[in-house]
Amino acid sequence: MRKTVYLPNAKFSKKAHVSTLSQYKDMYQESIDNPCEFWGNIAKQFHWETPISADKFFSYNFDITKGPIFIKWLEGATTNICYNLLDRNIRNGHGDKIAFYWEGNDPEDYSRLTYRKLLKEVCRFANVLKTRGVTKGDRVAIYMPMILEVVVAMLACCRIGAVHSLVFAGFSSESLGERMFDCKCKVLVTADGAWRGTKLIRLKELCDAGMERCKSLGHEVETCIVVEHLLRLNAAQGCPSNGTEPHTNGDTAKVKMLEGRDVWWHEEMEDAPSSCYPVWMDAEDPLFMLYTSGSTGKPKGVLHTTAGYLLYAATTFKYVFDYRPGDVYWCTADVGWITGHTYVVYGPLACGATSVVFEGTPFHPDNDRYWQVVDKYKVTQFYTAPTAIRALMKFGDEPVQRHSLHTLKVLGSVGEPINPEAWLWYYTRVGHENCSIADTFWQTETGGHVITPLPGCTPMKPGSATFPFFGVLPALLDESGQEVRGPGEGYLVFRRPWPGIMRTLFGNHDRFETTYFSRFPGYYCTGDGARRDEDGYLWVTGRVDDMLNISGHLLSTAEVESVLVEHPLVAEAAVVSRPHPVKGECLYCFVTPNDGVAFASKLSDELKFRVREKIGPFATPEVIQHAPGLPKTRSGKIMRRVLRKIALNDRDIGDISTLADETIVEALFQNRPSDAQS
Ligand code: WT7
Repeated sequence: MRKTVYLPNAKFSKKAHVSTLSQYKDMYQESIDNPCEFWGNIAKQFHWETPISADKFFSYNFDITKGPIFIKWLEGATTNICYNLLDRNIRNGHGDKIAFYWEGNDPEDYSRLTYRKLLKEVCRFANVLKTRGVTKGDRVAIYMPMILEVVVAMLACCRIGAVHSLVFAGFSSESLGERMFDCKCKVLVTADGAWRGTKLIRLKELCDAGMERCKSLGHEVETCIVVEHLLRLNAAQGCPSNGTEPHTNGDTAKVKMLEGRDVWWHEEMEDAPSSCYPVWMDAEDPLFMLYTSGSTGKPKGVLHTTAGYLLYAATTFKYVFDYRPGDVYWCTADVGWITGHTYVVYGPLACGATSVVFEGTPFHPDNDRYWQVVDKYKVTQFYTAPTAIRALMKFGDEPVQRHSLHTLKVLGSVGEPINPEAWLWYYTRVGHENCSIADTFWQTETGGHVITPLPGCTPMKPGSATFPFFGVLPALLDESGQEVRGPGEGYLVFRRPWPGIMRTLFGNHDRFETTYFSRFPGYYCTGDGARRDEDGYLWVTGRVDDMLNISGHLLSTAEVESVLVEHPLVAEAAVVSRPHPVKGECLYCFVTPNDGVAFASKLSDELKFRVREKIGPFATPEVIQHAPGLPKTRSGKIMRRVLRKIALNDRDIGDISTLADETIVEALFQNRPSDAQS
């Protein structure tokens, strides 16, 4: 029989930062009762150019009926996050400590960077940015593979007070262009290209198209700085197993550079001085922005600020991964997502940690790559997504068993609910029943973990993110906004801000207030549902809005529908989420062509291609189904719950008496394409 509760390894527990549940409870209570003291103590380890003033430590309004929403931490104090991540650690004697091991897509390609060397590179690039006219408050877009220059570029922005805006390099050129237009970035930093497994991605070409798109919208990027990444690879002769697209050193020469706009990173860096005085930033000055999908309209530019984010990234990193000096930590997330910001860059560096940055995929050159890398660097904490775990489970235990994995202590999970099967596989096969699993619930908006076990003290239940982190006050609300106390289910909301929560949506405070604070005045609304069990454990059940989560990437059905209906032959479209064994969820699209237009597989292929081009490869629809009509109520509202049932081929559709035309439902069941399966 399966256990329902798993206890942390006793030996590990004893030495952990928090080793008993009662210690957690005491610390948690302190963080709620005396937030100023709790976070004030943590702030002492960091450098404040202008000291923190006790009377302005923390202020906020979460109640839209009482005035504008605002959140302020450590107002009036000044600091520089780059100084705290690098100079401070070097002053504390960690200059020669390795900040990052870099492991390339090809196992032959690897390198390392100490804190001291990283600071030098950051200062040089900060000077490059200054030469290009970047000053405090300017936005810099970053569209890069997982190479160390991405960290250098981010921290260089911090050093001079510029606001970085990363766009995941799996997004299409169009998405990149629209995001660059929205944030009006002065500079774009990218690379010539990168290998993902056996696939070559020509990033600069995508950037060219993205800058074109941005220009057509009315904003011109002044400078594009390009890292020459392909040329310097040891494996530059190409991906050995890839017969289709041989890559040679000559390829870099093919990159087109636009005179006056495009410059090479290495050429700009050559003469740049390796010191750069930090710009002291107010605690509430913007640090970075990062786009995330919205359930309506265009992506939202989530804005994080300086001091609170620093405190929160450092504290969650320390406690949730139980980080100690000497550990080697590895988070597999791409820096283009919030996980990569907080738990590849800011959190680990704030704690002076050594981390692995990995460029490749779990499947290249073989399905044991993750485990090979864990053993190679003696990784102690490993942090990945359920979708990766499920994809690896498919290959069975043998690839895992090839490696010892004995250095591992903590295994993290993030991005979506982890199903108990995947949890157990992770726990037994990867962790050998010795490691705690940290199922961390959070969002781009929350800046860091908000509901999570602590590995030394929290008894784990597979699939539950367990309890709130320090300073976080969750609640479950019913439809009417009443708090559900004790066991029950409801909308997951938070009653008060913790230091790392976002402050606004870039250039759109109204949207910030309506999206997160209008449904339930007095609360931050996550958009997720959750259940609390008899033991007080929280189980996040998934989105309650029209959002879906594909392999940990959030997407709105509206975003996809608008791409589909842009096609000249499409009259109407409705998109629903369907569960997927590996991706978690996938897109199932119902499409009604214009009158007189026959639905052909060519149309279906074109639509898939369009979504891919417009949003990105991860958004490619699983199924496009011809819909002669859509199930609508008399008032014209599409009944999505019925479409979800059709997508599943589940005939238990419930009451459809409010539909204008009930016969359409049967027609859609009959019309399910052969590739839809069940
Ligand atoms: C949404 C946020 C947080 C970094 C990656 C995603 C879902 C995330 C969990 C988890 C259940 C989770 C939620 C959330 N989610 N982690 N451990 N258990 N659901 O960031 O793109 O802002 O997505 O991901 O639905 O709202 P994001």
